[in-house]
Amino acid sequence: MKAIVYTEYGTPDVLQVKEVEKTKHKDDEVLIRIHAAEATKADCEMRSFKFAVKWFWLPLRIAMGLTRPKNLVLGGYFAGKIESTGKDVSNLEKGDEIFGTTKLRMGAYGEYVCLPASYTIVPKPYNLTFEEAAAVPLGGLNALHFLRKANIQNGEQVLINGAGGSIGSFAVQITKAMGAEVAAVDSAAKEEMLRRIGADHFFDYTTEDFTKSGQTYDVIFDMVAQSSYSACIKLLNPKGRYLMGNPRISDMLRSVITSSFTDKMAIFAFAGETAEELLALKEMIEVGKIKPIVDQVYSIDQAADAHRRVETEQRLGIVVISMRSHQSNEMPGHNG
Ligand SMILES: NC(=O)c1ccc[n+]([C@@H]2O[C@H](COP(=O)([O-])OP(=O)(O)OC[C@H]3O[C@@H](n4cnc5c(N)ncnc54)[C@H](OP(=O)(O)O)[C@@H]3O)[C@@H](O)[C@H]2O)c1
Repeated sequence: MKAIVYTEYGTPDVLQVKEVEKTKHKDDEVLIRIHAAEATKADCEMRSFKFAVKWFWLPLRIAMGLTRPKNLVLGGYFAGKIESTGKDVSNLEKGDEIFGTTKLRMGAYGEYVCLPASYTIVPKPYNLTFEEAAAVPLGGLNALHFLRKANIQNGEQVLINGAGGSIGSFAVQITKAMGAEVAAVDSAAKEEMLRRIGADHFFDYTTEDFTKSGQTYDVIFDMVAQSSYSACIKLLNPKGRYLMGNPRISDMLRSVITSSFTDKMAIFAFAGETAEELLALKEMIEVGKIKPIVDQVYSIDQAADAHRRVETEQRLGIVVISMRSHQSNEMPGHNG
């Protein structure tokens, strides 16, 4: 089978399409034919080994490979079809159109991947293409997980910092669906897209500092590693919640004090990315409450360009790599 592999850390040019051995599933696993995978910021960070949050550099380097990557195929979020199932699998069947996550196994940048059937793999929304569906799990699962923790009420004021990215673009839509008034923070190029998907207010972080606007919020959902913890806490209304998607260790420690000794809460978490949450997202997509915002779809041979697009930060939404162009001439379009 073909896969996009990287054998050294570096620029997008280290990504190459190679022929690799097609894995066989175990009794409790399924073999998935990948149709499309999201090219994520995290994939780019792993490829280059450059991370916004520095504190886990050494343990991560040991886990991922000290001198070169141990796991050669990136890709954590996908849509595809079940090709075959192990004899102990009862929840999935050959031919099922699915989407999901590979968790830490990665491997979605290949034509096939084997995963335990117990992983987060659920039926694809009927009204999305495979390329659109692959753009859902990362952003949708992380946004939903955090926003549920904030228990957002109708009419609350919510600010989303980093609103134009994979997680943020879902967060804006889910927050609107929860009945809140949404302020989005990102760069100016994304204002039109963010207003289109529901943002009521917009701050361009390159020219404005939302912490100095005088506006306060019931919830701040923050995807930006460099944010000022104290400035964000100060902006919260009484009983306000600060959701930290990208916290420093010092912020995690301070969050314990905030949550224990004030009427505000600071929440950090790693999203579990559960099947229940992905099914909830599927339902919201099928009734038209939310949709993935796909910036561009690249073919398997254009993986380096896909990563460059993710890293240039000019994208309006989510970048997807289609694995289908090798099997047919069909090249899905761009729905940005
Ligand atoms: N806690 C968890 O479980 C968890 C899980 C997954 C990801 N994460 C983290 O969450 C973060 C967001 O992930 P993502 O996939 O949504 O990333 P993404 O797609 O790269 O989105 C980040 C967005 O933030 C914008 N941005 C950059 N600097 C900003 C600033 N100073 N102020 C406001 N906006 C800014 C970017 O805009 P420009 O493009 O214009 O710079 C981009 O639109 C990542 O750092 C990731 O590591 C956490």
